Amino acid sequence: MNKLHTILNYLIYRFRSVNEHAIHSPFVFALTRDVIYNKVAFYSYESIEDLRKQLLGSDEQLKVVDLGAGSQVNNAHSRPISQIARNAAKPARYAQLLFRICNHFQAHTIIELGTSLGISTAYMASANSKSTVHTIEGSPEIAQKAKQNFKQLGLHNIQQHTRNFDDVLPTLLEQIPQPDLIFFDGNHRKDATLKYFELCLKKAHNETVFIFDDIYWSKEMTEAWEEIKKHDAVRVTIDLFFIGIVFFRKEQKKQHFVIKF
Ligand SMILES: C[S@@+](CC[C@H](N)C(=O)[O-])C[C@H]1O[C@@H](n2cnc3c(N)ncnc32)[C@H](O)[C@@H]1O
Repeated sequence: MNKLHTILNYLIYRFRSVNEHAIHSPFVFALTRDVIYNKVAFYSYESIEDLRKQLLGSDEQLKVVDLGAGSQVNNAHSRPISQIARNAAKPARYAQLLFRICNHFQAHTIIELGTSLGISTAYMASANSKSTVHTIEGSPEIAQKAKQNFKQLGLHNIQQHTRNFDDVLPTLLEQIPQPDLIFFDGNHRKDATLKYFELCLKKAHNETVFIFDDIYWSKEMTEAWEEIKKHDAVRVTIDLFFIGIVFFRKEQKKQHFVIKF
């Protein structure tokens, strides 16, 4: 992580970002008003946040296999669950936005790169019990804990894949129906992010939504985000600073939005 890069870009984001009233695209205006700014406390939020609290209070140690760009906090091989929950899991505001996006687009086939303890997975799976969330995690002990968490929440629509993204993703994409939503939340390197983007793009349909986490985490991640925005297949992007949302809808003109969140 490059803290200075993140802070500088955050200041630029605060200055450039707008709310729904400055948006002229009807699609993005409606999405901002109805989904991004939706304040309804959906039923499943409470049980997932109760689980998060339990994890934040757990001293149990898990062995961590670091396959990604590494943690900026602690590269030790064993970490307490409390620390993993604090550093890796998406905060409630963003995880709940994932829920609302899955719910709004009725995403049926979902892929997540980076399960960790399963907080964001649980939100996406709760949005539609008829969906299937394929979530990939390379650290076996973390994936095992996520499995217990899904059981505790009574979620049955999650398929876990416990291996490196590089090994799982190509075969998974061949085996499943076209994905409706993909959440990229692991291995924050430029080349890896662009490689996963290109791979997934081959299976995307007109309505598929890609969501990239931590687009300002490092210079590399911001470069990857800028390349993604420029890609011919990409029509609309929404920058919420901590996440970037990508749409391929051919009927839209190419436009990039920076929205206050
Ligand atoms: C930021 S965490 C995911 C957090 C989770 N999506 C949430 O919000 O609750 C990223 C996870 O991706 C996993 N990861 C990173 N690179 C990976 C790779 N190349 N293959 C498999 N897993 C990887 C890490 O072990 C880590 O648990």
